[in-house]
Amino acid sequence: MIARDLLYEGKAKKVFLTDRDDRYLIRYKDDATAFNGEKKGSIIGKGAINNTMSAYFFQLLQSEGVESHFVEQTSSTEMVVRRVEIIPLEVIVRNIAAGSMSARLGIAEGTQLARPVVEFSYKRDDLGDPLVNDDHILALGLADEEELAKLREMALRVNTILREYLSKAGITLVDFKLEFGRLDNGEILLADEISPDTCRFWDSETGEKMDKDRFRRDLGNIEEGYRKALKRVLGGGK
Ligand code: TMP
Ligand code: ASP
Repeated sequence: MIARDLLYEGKAKKVFLTDRDDRYLIRYKDDATAFNGEKKGSIIGKGAINNTMSAYFFQLLQSEGVESHFVEQTSSTEMVVRRVEIIPLEVIVRNIAAGSMSARLGIAEGTQLARPVVEFSYKRDDLGDPLVNDDHILALGLADEEELAKLREMALRVNTILREYLSKAGITLVDFKLEFGRLDNGEILLADEISPDTCRFWDSETGEKMDKDRFRRDLGNIEEGYRKALKRVLGGGK
């Protein structure tokens, strides 16, 4: 697949048009930002790790019947995906309280939740991606009822599959963020990435963080955390 014009450059990825109008090429970058771009840096090797882990998870999910935009990994930092129109929602699933949920609701980080929590944020950098509920989503026309139900169902299914897989690899899946897209025919596919940038991964034994919180919170050994997470994921618990 030949990469042509740059379509879009995000904080962690570039999206290119290709010689096929139903495909994009995504190039993952080492650049890292946090707190809506206020904190900037670079994590050496992150692009390759996030690309490889995302490719692995998309294939695992596909084998369990969860359709995604993933087509193939074409280099260490690049993958070809199906062209979708991204739904402007961040779909977050939480198993354990952490991050913004702990701060907002005053629940200690690490508190096990009685059931998974699905949250939606409106993807608007200028507003800091505000939390929205089902009524906001329907009233703003961001998704219709059927789509909203589908997003929730797919997100919970991804949670079940990843949680079980990661637990065998000694990783506790604390929470994660997904994005979804629409094909021209309206079908909804999982999109974006699934990586240490978009998930919280804690070592099941020690609680050590193996994700972007090492960068957000200046915990050190950032690259090492990302590498460890990938090794565990690819090893599948072996
Ligand atoms: P939060 O606790 O900061 O709301 O984050 C919840 C999860 O979503 C966590 O796994 C990190 C991920 N996330 C992103 O992927 N992108 C973002 O912009 C934010 C704020 C969180
Ligand atoms: N990626 C987001 C940003 O730049 C936030 C985050 O992941 O913490 O700001």
